[in-house]
Amino acid sequence: MKELLFLLLVVVETSRSYSNRCELGCDCRGDLKFTICSRALFTQLPTRVPPTTELLDLSDNNISIIPERSFNKNRKLRVLLLQNNNISEVEDGGFSQLEFLQKLDLSWNRISTLTEGFSIGLALLRELQLAHNCLTSLDSRAFLHLDGLQRLNLSSNSIHTIQVRSFSSMSTLRQLHLEDNQLTALRSGIFSMLRSLEVLNLAGNQIRETEMGVFKPLTSMTLLNLVDNQLSTVDFKTFLNIHTYSTHILLERNPWNCDCDLQRVFRKLRSIQRLFLDDYYNLTCKEPPVLEDYRLMDVDTELCLAETVTVLIISITVVTTVLAAMLMGERKRKKKKKGKHWTQQGELSDESDY
Ligand SMILES: *[C@@H]1O[C@H](CO)[C@@H](O)[C@H](O)[C@H]1NC(C)=O
Ligand SMILES: *[C@@H]1O[C@H](CO)[C@@H](O)[C@H](O)[C@H]1NC(C)=O
Ligand SMILES: *[C@@H]1O[C@H](CO)[C@@H](O)[C@H](O)[C@H]1NC(C)=O
Repeated sequence: MKELLFLLLVVVETSRSYSNRCELGCDCRGDLKFTICSRALFTQLPTRVPPTTELLDLSDNNISIIPERSFNKNRKLRVLLLQNNNISEVEDGGFSQLEFLQKLDLSWNRISTLTEGFSIGLALLRELQLAHNCLTSLDSRAFLHLDGLQRLNLSSNSIHTIQVRSFSSMSTLRQLHLEDNQLTALRSGIFSMLRSLEVLNLAGNQIRETEMGVFKPLTSMTLLNLVDNQLSTVDFKTFLNIHTYSTHILLERNPWNCDCDLQRVFRKLRSIQRLFLDDYYNLTCKEPPVLEDYRLMDVDTELCLAETVTVLIISITVVTTVLAAMLMGERKRKKKKKGKHWTQQGELSDESDY
């Protein structure tokens, strides 16, 4: 009887210490390696998370701030899920204690700026999800400490400015998702150092201008997505500057100005062996108005027709003029010759008269 009581006491004590270590509203399992606190109505980070936790799920709460040096009792974290909260501020060094963290999900929050302090300590981070936040510009120091990052998702923010060298520490980055932002121009230098980048997704922006050297550093790029932007023409050299083995380029849903220049550029681009314009057959014209909604492919043989006719007319004019000039010259020469002959004869006859 005594022994049974003792056993009961031990069990109660153990479970109490378990619940002590696991915050109310959380579920701690898998030898305390997984702590699931999703939809727990938290407005701030929980204080009691088992130190053995490797995956901490805090998604769908109402947390609004990540204070400096949070998680200093959870240094073993590998995955931290914070999506769908109300986070507007990450204090400098907020994640600095997480030296083993591999994945950080901060999507669906209200983050509007990233300072250098944001990325301190995250040297092993491989995946950073920041989609659906309020970022408007990327600072050249925001990602400074993310040396090992492979995937960065910045889609569905309001980014209109990317500072030169913003991604300069990310020589291992393989995927960069910038779709559904407010970019209008791609300046040379913004993608410098991204030599491992394979996928660059820029779909759903307002891009109308691409500087000549902007894609040059991307020597591993296999997919460039420019679907649904404001391109009306392409600069041949911008694409010629893509020095890769093979790159697929998507250009659908842009307001193409279908003129002879565009036709020429596309003909040249399509002849470059390493570039694949996968959706070329789907490109439609926006300008000139008579060609609106026509497929570029269906009109491209005619685009240079007017120009050909003009060239033909000019050529004919030139040839006619030259011919006429030559004819006139010939006639004049003959006339002169005749006159000379005549005077010579005249002179001769004059002489014979004497
Ligand atoms: C989100 O956080 C802000 C403060 O940053 C606060 O004013 C607001 O009430 C919070 N929203 C919700 C839904 O809790
Ligand atoms: C980027 O984030 C959005 C929103 O969370 C998600 O739908 C999309 O799958 C993500 N893309 C990648 C490649 O992770
Ligand atoms: C072209 O458009 C059609 C219809 O919208 C779509 O099914 C097809 O996948 C597109 N082709 C490419 C290569 O994007």
